[in-house]
Amino acid sequence: MKALTAITLAAALAVSGTAFASADLAAKNKCNTCHAPDKKMMGPSWKDVAAKNKGQKDAEKMLAEAIVKGGKGKYGKVPMPPQPKAASNEGGH
Ligand code: HEC
Repeated sequence: MKALTAITLAAALAVSGTAFASADLAAKNKCNTCHAPDKKMMGPSWKDVAAKNKGQKDAEKMLAEAIVKGGKGKYGKVPMPPQPKAASNEGGH
């Protein structure tokens, strides 16, 4: 659960107003192909994600699920493909 937790933690940190803290991890998982810290690419910027989920109680849990399962319709027409790899980075290492 470590890698995924770190990523979601980064997202959650962003939600609580801290800058995206784990850019390395995001790069490693190719998240940066579609996400950037503060500009919209194929996916929403981490800033947008943070703004959208601000104040949400279970943001971390919800985002972890959204990353592994993917999602669509929340930010626009482009769907986020499921990222089971982010989850499979768990354990093992
Ligand atoms: C192929 C492009 C693509 C890749 C690769 C990608 N994303 Fe996304 N992501 C998207 C799109 C598009 C959305 C917006 C989906 C929507 O509108 O609901 C999104 C949404 C999200 C959200 C917000 C979910 C929500 O419900 O608020 C998070 C968090 C996120 N991505 C994290 C990640 C992480 C972490 C990775 C790498 C493991 C990743 N993404 C890789 C395209 C991508």
